[in-house]
Amino acid sequence: MIQPIPLTVDLNARVVALGDRLFHDKRLSADDSLACAGCHGLDKGGTDQAKSSTGVGGKVGPIAAPTVYNSSYNHVQFWDGRAADLVEQADGPVNNAIEMASNWEQAIGKIKDDPCYAPAFADLYTDGMTERNIRHAIATFEQSLITPNSPFDKYLMGDANAVSERQRLGYRTYIAVGCGSCHMGVAAGGLQFEKMGKKADYFKARGGPIIKEDHGRFNFTGKDADRHFFKVPILRNIEVTFPYFHDGSAENLSDAIDKMAVHQLGARLPKPQIADIEAFLLSLTGEYKGVPLTQIKATP
Ligand code: HEC
Ligand code: HEC
Repeated sequence: MIQPIPLTVDLNARVVALGDRLFHDKRLSADDSLACAGCHGLDKGGTDQAKSSTGVGGKVGPIAAPTVYNSSYNHVQFWDGRAADLVEQADGPVNNAIEMASNWEQAIGKIKDDPCYAPAFADLYTDGMTERNIRHAIATFEQSLITPNSPFDKYLMGDANAVSERQRLGYRTYIAVGCGSCHMGVAAGGLQFEKMGKKADYFKARGGPIIKEDHGRFNFTGKDADRHFFKVPILRNIEVTFPYFHDGSAENLSDAIDKMAVHQLGARLPKPQIADIEAFLLSLTGEYKGVPLTQIKATP
């Protein structure tokens, strides 16, 4: 079952504003070329809408960027769950050689005297601007990235006409065939690890070499039982977070739904059922600060 996203979340607005600025600050990268927002554009569903991400110096990464919208609903962060929470997660990209290729000492050196930052850090944190406090501010901003008010949320809150007949039918099908056993909760996912290819070998069907990232949670735990397990991604705003899967191999939603049925449920769904589920998933597109995610403009 899916629960509605609350309309507001109680956070310190000044910390959110500080984190917002940091999230959009390219100086956190080695050559001042790439902010967090460069790969998690708020106008692009919180992703880069690419098969895999491109970091500093044009280095192409091995895995697709998940959305930052509603990421606070994930029980852990990253596809393989290697970060316990958003504060820990924010350490990753800054130090990652194929993402921002920097380090905290360098980043703090560049922003510590910026009048946009110094007073805010001094006011909000007893120990001022530190690596930990930067990560805390970014994580607090990310907690503010919730997307309530999707047609499906309005429906859940009692507005029977907020979704179409087909979308209602699609949700019933989604639950009946078993999608909801993995993609559930407020964000329609993010709560558990599951094997990609639970019922039928996904990697064999996909073809191509199996790279390190395809091993998923195994890379973090070293346990054979965790091979090809991934954090179940959230399906909120799935309309704008294409392409799909950790390897970006599904270009469109109907392809992703078809593959999920085959590999996760061991079933081939007829085309009309896939279309119904797709219609339902499109009702999960919400709003950020009152603007539907399909209409958010890029911030410079
Ligand atoms: C070069 C592109 C790039 C940049 C820059 C980048 N990210 Fe990411 N981000 C990714 C990719 C790719 C992943 C998935 C990596 C993985 O799971 O192994 C990711 C994962 C995440 C996640 C986990 C979401 C989830 O569902 O597990 C969060 C949160 C996040 N990034 C926030 C940030 C923040 C904050 C910054 C800036 C400090 C940032 N990212 C900078 C590409 C990027
Ligand atoms: C056994 C658990 C499980 C079931 C059942 C399941 N999924 Fe998934 N789903 C996953 C996992 C794990 C992934 C991530 C796989 C990957 O990236 O390699 C995923 C990924 C997806 C994605 C891509 C999300 C993204 O951001 O890339 C969509 C869309 C999706 N599932 C929809 C569905 C639908 C619709 C159904 C029912 C037909 C379904 N899933 C059934 C576990 C499941």
